[in-house]
Amino acid sequence: MTGESKLLDDSADGFSGAGALHELIEGRDSRRYAISSDPALLQLARVHEFLSGKAYWCLGIPFEKVARAASNSLCFGVYRLRETAQDPAAAQPTSNLVQVGYARVVTDYATFAWICDVYIEESARGEGLSKKLMAFIMKHPSLQNLRRVCLATHDAHTLYEQFGFIRTKTPENWLEIKDDQIYLRR
Ligand SMILES: CC(C)(COP(=O)(O)OP(=O)(O)OC[C@H]1O[C@@H](n2cnc3c(N)ncnc32)[C@H](O)[C@@H]1OP(=O)(O)O)[C@@H](O)C(=O)NCCC(=O)NCCS
Repeated sequence: MTGESKLLDDSADGFSGAGALHELIEGRDSRRYAISSDPALLQLARVHEFLSGKAYWCLGIPFEKVARAASNSLCFGVYRLRETAQDPAAAQPTSNLVQVGYARVVTDYATFAWICDVYIEESARGEGLSKKLMAFIMKHPSLQNLRRVCLATHDAHTLYEQFGFIRTKTPENWLEIKDDQIYLRR
């Protein structure tokens, strides 16, 4: 089971993104993870590999779309710290991070946010990381006092319900334009 987690300031443990927030997490079998909102840490090739190959909602999405979406969103990465990262004297701490999870928030920072692209890689599942990630997002200072925060999910309702989300009471009021095949057409 997971252990303690703690909030870090920007300069701790080799993280340096200005204004970014980080949290260290003790996972199963002494594995260590970090959650961060630092865009400089994102490993977009790895994120793209998961989203294009394994995410049911955007299979086939091109790398350029993933990168553009990330650069226009508030993004969160979940990273496994390699063994050598336990050494605080490690010369290049960010090279000791392997991204194993992601979430992206589309927001105007005033009234609305849409949480999407949430995943944890198979190798890191069942350690409570998605719950830590959601808790981290929901307490992010730039995402407070919004009138509406939404997301869509096929089957992870009980994950999000733990953070106050409810199934909309007014589905008849919602409209959308959605092209499920957009990334699969060649
Ligand atoms: C869903 C996912 C993010 C969960 O990640 P995880 O780190 O293994 O999950 P956690 O260990 O934090 O536990 C998740 C919690 O949500 C619950 N849950 C609800 N729906 C779930 C689902 N579809 N898959 C996994 N857990 C789910 C679990 O029961 C657990 O709650 P509990 O500990 O109170 O019993 C991960 O399985 C994943 O990336 N799946 C593929 C992508 C996906 O479906 N993303 C969500 C899109 S909306």
